[in-house]
Amino acid sequence: MSEMAKLELNGEVFELPVITGTENEKALDISKLRASTGYITLDRGFKNTGSCQSAITFLNGEEGILRYRGYPIEQLAEKASFLEVSYLILKGELPTQAQLDSFEEDIDHHTLVHEDMKRFFEAYPAKAHPMGILASMICSMSTFYPESQDPNRSPEAVDLTIKRLIAKLPTLAAMVYKNAVRHPFMYPKNELGYIENFMYMMFGMPTEDYEPSPVIANALNKLLILHADHEQNCSASTVRIVGSSQANLYASISAGLSALWGPLHGGANQAVIEMLEMIEKDGGDLDKWIDKAKDKNDPFRLMGFGHRVYKNFDPRATIIKEACDDILGELGIEDPTLDIAKKLEKVALEDEYFIKRGLYPNVDFYSGIIYRAIGIPTEMFTVMFALGRLPGWIAQWKEMLDNGDPIGRPRQVYVGESARDFIPLEKR
Ligand code: CMC
Repeated sequence: MSEMAKLELNGEVFELPVITGTENEKALDISKLRASTGYITLDRGFKNTGSCQSAITFLNGEEGILRYRGYPIEQLAEKASFLEVSYLILKGELPTQAQLDSFEEDIDHHTLVHEDMKRFFEAYPAKAHPMGILASMICSMSTFYPESQDPNRSPEAVDLTIKRLIAKLPTLAAMVYKNAVRHPFMYPKNELGYIENFMYMMFGMPTEDYEPSPVIANALNKLLILHADHEQNCSASTVRIVGSSQANLYASISAGLSALWGPLHGGANQAVIEMLEMIEKDGGDLDKWIDKAKDKNDPFRLMGFGHRVYKNFDPRATIIKEACDDILGELGIEDPTLDIAKKLEKVALEDEYFIKRGLYPNVDFYSGIIYRAIGIPTEMFTVMFALGRLPGWIAQWKEMLDNGDPIGRPRQVYVGESARDFIPLEKR
């Protein structure tokens, strides 16, 4: 017999089914609680709420474990290519060589964006934030591919939309950058690999030969893999909830991009570098900034520290920290910001406040330093995160539809005014 939990409410006992995941994760199924008791559960920020059953990513925050489809992040970051990992996340299994070749070929085939989209860029102010433009561009793609608007169309149509998104996001991301620096757009060069092509479109110029550096391409490959999925985080949950209304994939991903933009989520990588530069400019008094982060009356937080799920360490941060040292060493770059970051990490990790709350450097603490070292401008950092996270968002969206999940619609506990009569304007 399946395990049941008992809930006693006003002297009556109700049974709640216990759901057990493949890694022995336990959950109480409360989906029928309101119907049988009249009660809902209250969980601000969904800190303790499972929104779905998912087979994509396993994460154990206490032990610092992260696996995509069962494969440890450490092995994938060390040995795989980003498109190989994308295939794994999307389809559930590692591709054979033939499957990978065909996947890469399909992606190459769709890298161009519609010429008319170029005109959108003319309308944005020069200092527009890249994430604002990118989210709009991705949503706009649905208008160019109306067949994508029905997410329940043929599996072939969905597959085509998925390939278009993976192929075109780097092209659009590079166009956003080129537009910001007022350089000509570079058309994709499909004989290059996925990452090399992105670098070519970002850093190449029509008047010059451009040879993507293998050191930088490797670093980007690792970074994109580390960001590829992270189960039910803010942006993935957003993608799922928007998609659950049967909105199309472009609209759902655009919503994910908007959720990622915030500094408490993907925008943290930009915020970390800005914070480190501010500390350096201010004279580098780390104790002062640590005290500010601990002061509940001060809105300052140590960006790049803390995580909703990881309470001992973020395995992605461990890999990135090592990669950061290697890349800066290989490129011969000395970055004083990295020294500040290392000192800050040491001071924070020895401080009772951070120890007690399980606050450790997260993936974004070091990623910005790598992006900067390889020439990515600060405002583009969150775009880089989005390039990595795209396969995860798509897989989450597809899984939600394939599982037939209902429309996402939380309840609330109303705490406003009780019913009262309308007062005409002249009597107020
Ligand atoms: N600096 C100072 N105090 C912090 C920080 C921080 N960065 N993060 C959490 N705290 C404190 C918080 O004030 C609270 O203290 P108390 O218990 O005394 O009220 C306690 O730690 C628990 O924090 P919380 O805000 O309840 O935790 P959360 O799970 O709601 O928030 C978080 C997680 C990531 C939003 C938060 O740690 C944070 O704001 N960190 C800085 C932003 C950041 O680096 N975000 C990137 C996350 S990793 C990339 C991604 O996948 O999105």
